[in-house]
Amino acid sequence: MTFDTHPRSSLIVALDFDSLKSALKFAQQIADVVGMFKIGSQLFTAAGPAAVREIAALGPGIFLDLKFHDIPNTVAGAVLSSAAMTGVQLVNVHALGGHAMLHAAVQAIGAGQPMGADRPRLLAVTILTSMDQKAMREVGIGGPPKTRVVKLAKLAKTAGVDGVVASVQEARAIRKACGRDFLIVTPGVRPKDKDSAAAAKTDDQARTATPTEAIKAGADFLVVGRPITAAPDPRAAAQSIVDEIAAAK
Ligand code: C5P
Repeated sequence: MTFDTHPRSSLIVALDFDSLKSALKFAQQIADVVGMFKIGSQLFTAAGPAAVREIAALGPGIFLDLKFHDIPNTVAGAVLSSAAMTGVQLVNVHALGGHAMLHAAVQAIGAGQPMGADRPRLLAVTILTSMDQKAMREVGIGGPPKTRVVKLAKLAKTAGVDGVVASVQEARAIRKACGRDFLIVTPGVRPKDKDSAAAAKTDDQARTATPTEAIKAGADFLVVGRPITAAPDPRAAAQSIVDEIAAAK
């Protein structure tokens, strides 16, 4: 897939809504200033494939963020169904599912696509950014999170996965280990906007970074939710992030 080079293409807005009606109403206001919409488990569980169909009809591509993690055959089926939905450009799985599961997902993402069509890209989630070293140890994963994240990113790359979802703090190390063409998608982005306290609120994100820091660290795509969805003027909030991305590139 050739992603358009306009700075807006790097902005993915997370539609964390509990109904398709509210997600659509919101997405309509900003569809022409953003690159993609992210549909996660909350909206997809509530509204199903209709959410993808109706949001994709607004124009921007869809990042279907369902983080599959199951036996290889089941994940392959889920990835195949995801890739068959019109408008889906990014799909993800958990790297902790292991090489066989990742490889099954890689094969599924390209299967069933019409000849000559651009297939969606497959991403792996390494370690959830909500987990710190203690939480990792509790589930039997030792060592510092960054070391583990880079190892999992390399495993995903070896299996043929196109990129990872990772925090800005880990982006540089992943870029170094996995090369220029490996996609890096970073959530936890908070604009530094002195005029708007809402924009800089960290919410439940433990580690945040500004759009400029994310781009400088090598991120290809920035996932932003509440700084746009909860802004008094979502269009202006999205546009100001796009302007910041443009200045940082
Ligand atoms: O509102 P906020 O900007 O924090 O939203 C970030 C989005 O990115 C949410 O949809 C969240 O589920 C998602 N995400 C994340 N951290 C990850 C992976 C996904 O925050 N490691």
